[in-house]
Amino acid sequence: MLTGEKLREVITVIEENYAEALQNKEQQPSPPLSDKMTKILKERKEKAFQQMISFIKEKGMDMQALGKGNFNFHNAPVGIIFATYPWKNQNFLKCTVSAMENFLLAATAKGLGTCWINVVSICQDYIKKSLNLPEELILVDGVALGYPLEDSPLNQLQRERLPVSELTDWL
Ligand SMILES: Cc1cc2nc3c(=O)[nH]c(=O)nc-3n(C[C@H](O)[C@H](O)[C@H](O)COP(=O)(O)O)c2cc1C
Repeated sequence: MLTGEKLREVITVIEENYAEALQNKEQQPSPPLSDKMTKILKERKEKAFQQMISFIKEKGMDMQALGKGNFNFHNAPVGIIFATYPWKNQNFLKCTVSAMENFLLAATAKGLGTCWINVVSICQDYIKKSLNLPEELILVDGVALGYPLEDSPLNQLQRERLPVSELTDWL
């Protein structure tokens, strides 16, 4: 759990090292995935981003400031890093991701706002060094925690949902 100085320290580490971390990540081999699936996932991602970008433009919001939110935990007062250790069958990882999701749901039930922060895993080597955390620890990701701005136009964005039938195979 990070607040105050420590949260600012992590934000600075992210801002200063993101470009390099991203470049390192992109040099890693892609996971094995068929061309068909790669195409479907790429198209979905592009569509989601397109919708988000047109919404932001339509509302006249500052795209750069919003983008920066991904680095500064959207100005939330609290940042949380979910971390785990490698284990057989990735079982610890599964437990941690489910704990994250439970945390997001519990916070929402209490009227708090959260946002998953993906740059934490991207910049994890730099963050671990700065916070003196064990090298073997896996930083799964971060979560920004605060009170939602109910009147922020961004919170009116309704993301398109794929129908369940498109995501389900009945065997
Ligand atoms: C693995 C993962 C990483 C995410 N990373 C970010 C992020 O870095 N910044 C962000 O604003 N939202 C991030 N999100 C939140 C999504 O953009 C989205 O708001 C969230 O999954 C809820 O979906 P919905 O908006 O369709 O309800 C992430 C979500 C997931 C599952």
